[in-house]
Amino acid sequence: MPILDAPMLVLGIETSCDETGLALYETGAAGLPGTLLAHAVHSQIAMHEAYGGVVPELASRDHIRRLVPLSRQVLERAGRRIADVGAIAYTEGPGLAGALLAGAAFARSLAQALGVPAIGIHHLEGHLLSPLLSARAPRFPFVALLVSGGHTQLMRVEQVGRYELLGETQDDAAGEAFDKTAQLLGLGYPGGPALSALAESGKPKRCRLPRPMIASGDLEFSFSGLKTAVLTLLKKETRPEKKDLAREFVDAVVEVLVAKCALAMQKTGLTQLVVAGGVGANKQLRAALNAKAAESGFAVFYPEPELCTDNGAMIAFAAALRLQAGATVPASDHAFSVRPRWDLASLS
Ligand code: KG4
Ligand code: ZN
Repeated sequence: MPILDAPMLVLGIETSCDETGLALYETGAAGLPGTLLAHAVHSQIAMHEAYGGVVPELASRDHIRRLVPLSRQVLERAGRRIADVGAIAYTEGPGLAGALLAGAAFARSLAQALGVPAIGIHHLEGHLLSPLLSARAPRFPFVALLVSGGHTQLMRVEQVGRYELLGETQDDAAGEAFDKTAQLLGLGYPGGPALSALAESGKPKRCRLPRPMIASGDLEFSFSGLKTAVLTLLKKETRPEKKDLAREFVDAVVEVLVAKCALAMQKTGLTQLVVAGGVGANKQLRAALNAKAAESGFAVFYPEPELCTDNGAMIAFAAALRLQAGATVPASDHAFSVRPRWDLASLS
């Protein structure tokens, strides 16, 4: 496919986990910035809450139920017709196999019916490019911190499709640590936002948790020990108040993330840091990173708050950037697969 010289309407579809996200993004003509025309997300949190986590089979079935109504909704909001769509982007991985298949099958069939290309997108590429959708956007190259329920990674982003892994968690992701600790404190699922809110009323240093790997000198993380340390404190006879424990937990995670980001900036010599993924919505993390950036002389960029968690806009946008860069889309042979496990650094 040649580099786009006329605007193209891209329908983006995200179904990797427990959010069904649909979006319409229109590319700009001849490399100009495009426009996010509409996006809509249906969260399955209420459905999974009773089980304390995502139930994959329920997730897949719900995606199937939501895909058509949400597609109609974004077309209506954007004032476009399905026949105007020029390409369909969907999350090919990583994620839950059944959930990915629901989105991929829908995207591929619709593309086939419309006679337009279908493009499989890496979920984390969507996240880390999403700050480019903001009015204040970074320029390549930059460092990206991906902090979600499934990933904690620092990447060097040279350009679209060129990602180098600088370091990642050896065990639990930061969001997973938030969710597991929130569960120990009886805050429900997913507990990240509730734990963060409780921490705001807590006092600092009323109890002590470790700052795992903060002085390791590399860009690796480890968060699995934190929940065990929280459990140990909860079992003590003179156990701390929940809000003070929440405060200490958030301080521990934030201090580690900020220290590693600062080290990544120092090691790469780059001056822009992009923060993406669900935990990137965390207030305390943003405040501490902004302070560190001001002190150390680098700039921090975040996606718009509604685009921090999973959404279809980031998938449509990543595909649009790839199309604008002249990506070739192989003709469909009607066979497709998804990649529940997929290394971001393997992209080109
Ligand atoms: O990126 P995301 O929507 O889904 C994936 O994991 O891909 O991230 C969800 C994660 C959950 O672990 C959730 O608890 C966490 O992000 N999260 C937060 C906040 N908002 C979402 N963690 C801490 N503070 C928040 N404000
Ligand atoms: Zn995500």
